Amino acid sequence: MHPLFLLSLLLLSCSASALQDDFCVADLKGANTPSGYQCKDPSTVTVDDFVFSGFGVAGNTSNLIKAAVTPGFVGQFPGTNGLGISAARLDLAPGGVVPLHTHPAGSELLIVVQGSICAGFITSGSNTVYYKTLKKGDTMLFPQGLLHFQINAGGSNAVALVSFSSPNPGLQITAFALFANSLPSPTIEKVTFLDDYEVKKLKGVLGGTN
Ligand SMILES: *[C@@H]1O[C@H](CO)[C@@H](O)[C@H](O)[C@H]1NC(C)=O
Repeated sequence: MHPLFLLSLLLLSCSASALQDDFCVADLKGANTPSGYQCKDPSTVTVDDFVFSGFGVAGNTSNLIKAAVTPGFVGQFPGTNGLGISAARLDLAPGGVVPLHTHPAGSELLIVVQGSICAGFITSGSNTVYYKTLKKGDTMLFPQGLLHFQINAGGSNAVALVSFSSPNPGLQITAFALFANSLPSPTIEKVTFLDDYEVKKLKGVLGGTN
């Protein structure tokens, strides 16, 4: 085969795949897998697959933690599928807190747009803590998988816009993982070093059983 012919074949296949790989808008009717959703038929894609309009209104903070996260993850924002990116809005009423939690699949970038927020994370190796009270305009980074938290540090509502390095970053809140489950209390006491009274109290507050 002539080398030029080979080269043109290669270029043809590259340009064809570059076109196809511009995006892969999620087909939300299918299943979400570890590698994302299947692509929606490109002929049915519209600009609204790339626009999310959910961050203009405050989330409802009338709850135990006085906080609300409005997700713009792949399930709400199908254009993010396969692009390693997504967003959320965080509302913290006075006294509000996002308890210690992790996002297993993505790093987080938080930009304070109103009020002030005390935020921090804990490293996995040495349990070193990095935390600071952020004011409007401050941006903080939370590396993937590390335990972190946000607390309203002022007397008024605080708002942050958040971006993740994954269309589906996941969320595990440590207190809920420990005390909103069905593991028997004696087992939780063994694995947390907490006493029976405290474990039963927290299971009661957070909805655990056994
Ligand atoms: C906010 O949530 C609370 C508790 O679920 C509910 O009672 C209330 O109606 C909600 N408020 C709005 C404005 O949706």
